Amino acid sequence: MKKLLFQFDTDSHPSVFDTVVAYDGGADHVIGHGGLTPENVTALVEGAIFTRAPKDKKNTAIFVGGSNMAAGQQLFIAVQRHFFPGFQVSVMLDSNGSNTTAAAAVAKLASNGSLAGKKAVVLAGTGPVGQRAAVMLAQEGAEVTLTSRTLARATQACQDMKARFNVDLTPIEAADSKSREVAIKNANIVLATGAAGIELLTPEQWQNNPNIEMMADANATPPLGIGGIDMMDKGIDRHGKIIWGAIGFGTLKLALHRACIAKLFEDNKQVLDAENIFALAKEMA
Ligand SMILES: NC(=O)c1ccc[n+]([C@@H]2O[C@H](COP(=O)([O-])OP(=O)(O)OC[C@H]3O[C@@H](n4cnc5c(N)ncnc54)[C@H](OP(=O)(O)O)[C@@H]3O)[C@@H](O)[C@H]2O)c1
Repeated sequence: MKKLLFQFDTDSHPSVFDTVVAYDGGADHVIGHGGLTPENVTALVEGAIFTRAPKDKKNTAIFVGGSNMAAGQQLFIAVQRHFFPGFQVSVMLDSNGSNTTAAAAVAKLASNGSLAGKKAVVLAGTGPVGQRAAVMLAQEGAEVTLTSRTLARATQACQDMKARFNVDLTPIEAADSKSREVAIKNANIVLATGAAGIELLTPEQWQNNPNIEMMADANATPPLGIGGIDMMDKGIDRHGKIIWGAIGFGTLKLALHRACIAKLFEDNKQVLDAENIFALAKEMA
């Protein structure tokens, strides 16, 4: 029986990246739908849950993606609302690679030593990756600050994550490079999760900071988010700090993403979101 993955995207076009990884993770066929909302997803979910016999339902799964974390969370919940005993399929949430990328980055940082009690700053943390990474750092016991160019966006992201995970994150406004330098002044851990191709810190702004122990940067599109590092850095020492570049931890991200897709087809009851994806990342790191 063919393994079918239905890719439900909150953006108008289903993510090509997610389609490729879905095939690489073991799906035989990937069917993408864009522009999905809680209001228009009902018939699609019903088509997925009613079509196969109970023992065969594990061969149908749903992947929720898109660039908006809040919209992804709502769609993920809406999909599961249509499930009832005997009629459900496995489902995963990974808007813009949020869970898998954040989990890989934080798992790699945690592999270098305990994060408990450390001061962590997630730079430009309002995107899907930054929000989930901030949660995972907090769950590891770090004291986490999340920056944005506007206080309103930082506050909204922290409130959304508090509502979903009950973690306390501190929002701050850091509108430019100078204010981001101030934001990381007392940080032990810096994780940059800014948009592709945006430099958030220059080399001079972090290299002589005596408090920073570890840094990671999710942006693999030059210029990188943290100037003076290499995207291939795999936990190497630069200026006395442990550095993870986007591709350096991206290998784990891809392996993790594929492993999650494979897991969706193990049975029809998998619900993969930040908690279990992060747990798997720590096993694999
Ligand atoms: N390494 C990997 O395996 C991997 C996998 C997936 C994604 N990624 C990368 O991870 C990063 C985060 O992904 P994402 O989808 O969460 O990012 P995103 O939503 O595209 O952007 C994150 C934040 O960057 C800030 N930003 C945008 N333009 C900016 C500018 N000109 N100056 C300063 N800040 C700016 C915005 O925050 P405010 O508007 O609130 O300031 C935005 O919310 C991206 O670089 C992405 O390419 C890496």
